[in-house]
Amino acid sequence: MHFDRLWRGGRLATLDESKGGLGLVEDGSVGCVAGRIAFVGAGLPEGWTADEVIELEGRLVTPGLIDCHTHLVFAGDRADEFEMRLRGETYETIAAAGGGIVSTVAKTRAASEEQLVASALERLDRLLAEGVTAVEVKSGYGLDLESELKMLRAARALEGARAVSVATSLLAAHTLPPEHRDSREVYVAKVVEEIIPAAVGLADAVDAFCESNAFTPDEVRRVFDAARAHGLPVRLHADQRTAGGGAQLAAKYGALSADHLERTDAAGARALAQAGTVAVLLPGAFYALRDEAKPPVALFREAGVRMAVATDCNPGSSPLTSLLTAVNMAVILFGLTVDEALAGVTREAARAIGRWDEMGSLEVGKACNLAIWDATRPVELAYWLGRNPLRSRVFQGEPS
Ligand code: NIG
Ligand code: FE
Repeated sequence: MHFDRLWRGGRLATLDESKGGLGLVEDGSVGCVAGRIAFVGAGLPEGWTADEVIELEGRLVTPGLIDCHTHLVFAGDRADEFEMRLRGETYETIAAAGGGIVSTVAKTRAASEEQLVASALERLDRLLAEGVTAVEVKSGYGLDLESELKMLRAARALEGARAVSVATSLLAAHTLPPEHRDSREVYVAKVVEEIIPAAVGLADAVDAFCESNAFTPDEVRRVFDAARAHGLPVRLHADQRTAGGGAQLAAKYGALSADHLERTDAAGARALAQAGTVAVLLPGAFYALRDEAKPPVALFREAGVRMAVATDCNPGSSPLTSLLTAVNMAVILFGLTVDEALAGVTREAARAIGRWDEMGSLEVGKACNLAIWDATRPVELAYWLGRNPLRSRVFQGEPS
């Protein structure tokens, strides 16, 4: 067997489900041909040759990390609102007074596509520096046809600018744009009739924010019906600030993921498990909003719900540009085990973006996306706060 590149002598966390846990392989090797994994396992196959051999010297290797829920593309920041929250205001009172998501909408509408790409790259680079090789990016700060498409194009452009895979989600149903504050019916019709059809080819999925101050379950159903009619899978910001049956709604549509879920109940957990919808936990938002309700991790385990972990990087509720910090928060704040949290930024994150066939584990045939760590034990990835143990990153077989 001839490889373009071969990494040998490492401790592999393959995330191969058939092996259990993190699928650890001692003294393991990964051989790559044309950007894909051609061999993975202990030792080496008979008669191997390779153009290049890299010695891992016992280091831990995981699949490249996947940040499966971000709002990386936006203009400006909301540091002023952060200060208001420190003084006692809440996310909801700020939004009701005309701040919150719509203040980022105004800045994002005014920004050029190039400006959006440039500011998103600065945040993306921080994720990549920690071993991320795939990222999901949502629109949702445009809230009109042109601005939503501009955001999706900016998100797509990230893929050409860096060695990373990008999955895009259309989040036109994020909140009501200011010009439709008194005509929500008209805006929902616009999303359904204009924006979703126009986003086909640019968006890999359709997302919505089901919340008392965003969209009702009925409105979300209309958005999801339109997504389905256009062959797009759906995801949902669900049960974050108020319990609204969001998990059940996502499950009913066979959503790839339901995200946040701080206020999901046992019936919601069972619905997610049955539908195979991934629960995406976002501890950065829980932390920054000083939320008191935690996602019901014990119910998720009991029901057999798959759990992913992501940054939710956005200027309002989660100004977090470190996926390893999200892993740390998931174990400390939400009580995930280290294995669950690491599966949550690899295997389950790949499922949440609908790309499990391509990435998320070290298995023959998948993209050769690796994170090589200056660490030997998986717990070290969850343990440090602000220390980055990444040694190198490999995207489609190419070290970077
Ligand atoms: O995932 N929950 C809604 N959307 C974002 C927040 C966006 C913002 O505040 O700008 C979230 O937390
Ligand atoms: Fe979000």
